Amino acid sequence: MTSTKPPTGLFANVTAYGDVAFSRWMRRAFLLSAGYDDEDLDRPVVGIATTWSDYNTCHRDMPALTEAVRRGVLERGALPFVFPTASLHEILMAPTTMLYRNLLALETEELIRSQPMDAVVLLGGCDKTVPAQVLAATSVDVPALLLVTGPMALGSWHGERLGACTDCRRLWAASRAGRIDPAETAAVGGRLAASGGTCPVMGTASTMACLIEVLGLALPGSATPTSGTGERLRIGVQTGRRAAELAVARQAGQEVPLVRDLLTRAALRNAVTALLALGGSTNAVIHLLAFARRAGAGLSLADFDELARTVPLLVDCKPAGVGYLEDLHRAGGVPALLSTLRPLLDLSVRGVDGSTLGERLAGLGEPGEWQTTLRPLTAPLGPPGALVVLRGSLAPEGAILKQAAASPQLLQHRGPAVVFESPEDAARRIDDPALPVTPDSVLVLRNAGPAAAGMPEAGSLPIPKRLAQAGVTDLVRISDARMSGTGYGTVVLHVAPEAARGGPLALVRDGDLIELDTAGRRLELCVPAEELQRRRAAWTPPPLPPRGWRRLYAEQVLQADQGADLAFLGPSAEPVGEE
Ligand code: FES
Repeated sequence: MTSTKPPTGLFANVTAYGDVAFSRWMRRAFLLSAGYDDEDLDRPVVGIATTWSDYNTCHRDMPALTEAVRRGVLERGALPFVFPTASLHEILMAPTTMLYRNLLALETEELIRSQPMDAVVLLGGCDKTVPAQVLAATSVDVPALLLVTGPMALGSWHGERLGACTDCRRLWAASRAGRIDPAETAAVGGRLAASGGTCPVMGTASTMACLIEVLGLALPGSATPTSGTGERLRIGVQTGRRAAELAVARQAGQEVPLVRDLLTRAALRNAVTALLALGGSTNAVIHLLAFARRAGAGLSLADFDELARTVPLLVDCKPAGVGYLEDLHRAGGVPALLSTLRPLLDLSVRGVDGSTLGERLAGLGEPGEWQTTLRPLTAPLGPPGALVVLRGSLAPEGAILKQAAASPQLLQHRGPAVVFESPEDAARRIDDPALPVTPDSVLVLRNAGPAAAGMPEAGSLPIPKRLAQAGVTDLVRISDARMSGTGYGTVVLHVAPEAARGGPLALVRDGDLIELDTAGRRLELCVPAEELQRRRAAWTPPPLPPRGWRRLYAEQVLQADQGADLAFLGPSAEPVGEE
């Protein structure tokens, strides 16, 4: 196949045989074998990356959604090419999906870069899939749209609505405390995840779905429709149409917005504002910092700290409230949230639909008083400070506390440390009757940070059984780990530097006094500096994993305050699609 056309569509990115004409002739031969003819092969191409897998129950409705996107692409005159990538399911991967976010990002980036496509739609949903896809899309020169599979339908138990996983954690805690018997505990397990789709509380999946819409990377109104519904499928068709429009424009040589153009500092600060109003997942802090680093947008923990002092909690969803994603959807979803937040947002930022945020919100009013899930700025659900950035001698580079899901009586607390060396150590000893733990204790978990363990969601340590059965429902817990977005409690997370990189967390001993001063944004290890120096002199870092991805990850991963991306995956201006 010879052509004088610029290399777009299926004849871009040809295999390197050292003879471009031969490469194109061969490519045409193989595509003809798949039933495409020359009319097809002239069209611009939209890649559709699917993270469907039997191992990902949250993505079980993705095949139908993929077909909807495919239809939208065809309707606008482009050619859809579906391709699989890895899929990361929170509950079916060990030790944690966070260890594989950057691997999925790298894989997706390279598949977009190495295969011919003029635009790409990235289908995700379960927690780490969406951040991985945003990281990938930020690093390529192909326009991209994100599309989530949508939240699950709700289950019910004895007339009470249930949704994974805040209710899973609440009911498991009740079971551990002996308030639910084993038979009921087993039976309620059949009601917690009622359908395909992502956890229907404001966990990480829902938070990231909302934030990619805020960032303009997904179509307006696309975050909250339930998985598998007609509304979700229609969003899929519309996403396919928009992707095709971008591909057609790109093939015609027109300027099209790239993800890294959309991820400006102003757009990311809008996302932080929305995160705070949503009472969203602490994991979003890490992901937004990683996006900013990839895009060179200059967002830091200081932005979270600044905005957290002024943005109130507006959305009444679990775990910070009582509602579910379908309640937020009924209240108008992300467009209604953004309309409510209008005075606090930069309305000049652009989205992948081509409009500014101000244009997107034109004509939208605030949601009516018939609903209570989305509160107005004049009567918020909670005060500013849903998330708090802490610093101090125990967290020189910062730590995070989700104040909106913490116990008010523990926000100012000083107590003796009970130290666990690793998540495995905690699992082994947490219920040991000899553990010297009281309601005043501060549970410390270390060697669960990015380099040590891939940063599992182990920070929300269970309340030791002895205390739980005595009615204690919360303790101050501190770690270099993460917590599920569906978790709750007075849980200090993301302590940086982590213990395995020599952070002060490595030096804490049982009985040391630790002070949490949430009002003052401080986290202090109350041990004299000379004693800490002695302990540091005796400290040695844990060994690196022996081989493979885990070795590369442990060597290259950055700390939580930098988004836990890999050091060599910084901002890239490498052109994609050139030969
Ligand atoms: Fe997939 Fe919660 S387990 S979103």
